[in-house]
Amino acid sequence: MELRCVCMNLSFRGLLSYARRHDIRDLDALIQATGCCSRCATCKPFIRWMLANDEVPTLDTPLPPEPAPESDSDPLTETG
Ligand code: FES
Repeated sequence: MELRCVCMNLSFRGLLSYARRHDIRDLDALIQATGCCSRCATCKPFIRWMLANDEVPTLDTPLPPEPAPESDSDPLTETG
């Protein structure tokens, strides 16, 4: 089974090929160029790993935890 960004119907193999052809190594740049990860983002850790390792991930690929989202406010101290 070939993994893909299901929402955008983009195969990881195709995304890696595109990234190599365009010398893209940054996830945000690949998102901007292809639209991958732009809906549910379930694919995001796989694609981040793929760009870092220059190979197509599988379901067995051990993924690092996703970085915490950046936020200007602290939800634990917010009032209102
Ligand atoms: S699977 Fe990639 S955005 Fe949903």
